[in-house]
Amino acid sequence: MAGKRPLVIAHRGASAYLPEHTLAGKAMAHAMGADFLEQDVVATRDGALIVFHDLHLDDLTDVALRFPGRARADGRHYCIDFDLAEVRQLALTERRRTGGDQPRYPGRFPASAGRFTIPTLEEEIRFIQGLNRSTGRCAGIYPEIKAPAWHHEHGIDLAALMLGVLGGHGYSAAGDAAIVQCFDGAELRRVRNDLGCGLRLVQLLEGGLPTTPELEAIGCYAEGIGPSLRQTVGTGLVAAAHRASLQVHPYTLRLDALPEGCPGFAELMDALCRGDAVDGLFTDFPDRVVQYLNQHFAGLS
Ligand code: G3P
Ligand code: CA
Repeated sequence: MAGKRPLVIAHRGASAYLPEHTLAGKAMAHAMGADFLEQDVVATRDGALIVFHDLHLDDLTDVALRFPGRARADGRHYCIDFDLAEVRQLALTERRRTGGDQPRYPGRFPASAGRFTIPTLEEEIRFIQGLNRSTGRCAGIYPEIKAPAWHHEHGIDLAALMLGVLGGHGYSAAGDAAIVQCFDGAELRRVRNDLGCGLRLVQLLEGGLPTTPELEAIGCYAEGIGPSLRQTVGTGLVAAAHRASLQVHPYTLRLDALPEGCPGFAELMDALCRGDAVDGLFTDFPDRVVQYLNQHFAGLS
């Protein structure tokens, strides 16, 4: 294939094979050759930053058993209602379907196996930097500011805290191996313009297709967009984003949950990598994407 090889972004780690956002899953993704390892970041009550996707702990941990009586009126246990010392006591497992015990992805790692805990952002960065050092291969980090408005409502400036941790570990400039992502456009603009972040920024998108003026507006504060696969394939979005000088990193390629109507993994990869090709790709299966790229981009980097 002509063109530049897309970046492989391990979505929550090698999450097809080990529970999401575990250090074990990040080590596996690193060994599989992912270029970037993703961190979803939320805060605890005492302002610690943890690597965890959901605002509530129910679908991935034993919080209801370990902390009875701590749910809100909706029956959920929220990260922001627990101190880090409490979060550290939780056992992290494979994701379950909301409100039940059934696994979200039945063929994945069994909930009864392994012993995993929730890492802090700082622990995870130190872990990845350790792997970079011991292997000599530099994988980047790709943290997402999760639900910034929710955190502001609870008195926590998640973005500012995150940038503090990143800066303290050597990530502050555009050339550093870190990309910051967020769905909230106003917050990402604030990250660039008010918080003075020099890192590469990616505006996550969902829903309808952005217009050209909207893409150009994103280009004033971000280096790229992160659309859903549905927004990306066969829509012309990649070409439109490139015209606005934006990189495109779609989410999320899962072999066990391909988009509706998609004939198969290879066909999807072909659609993403031919012609107006994406610049990166979030995937739960970094090994399979690396394998595809090795076959189709031999000799290119
Ligand atoms: O951040 C890219 C992708 O992960 C966005 O969706 O819900 O998995 O964070 P989500
Ligand atoms: Ca994410």
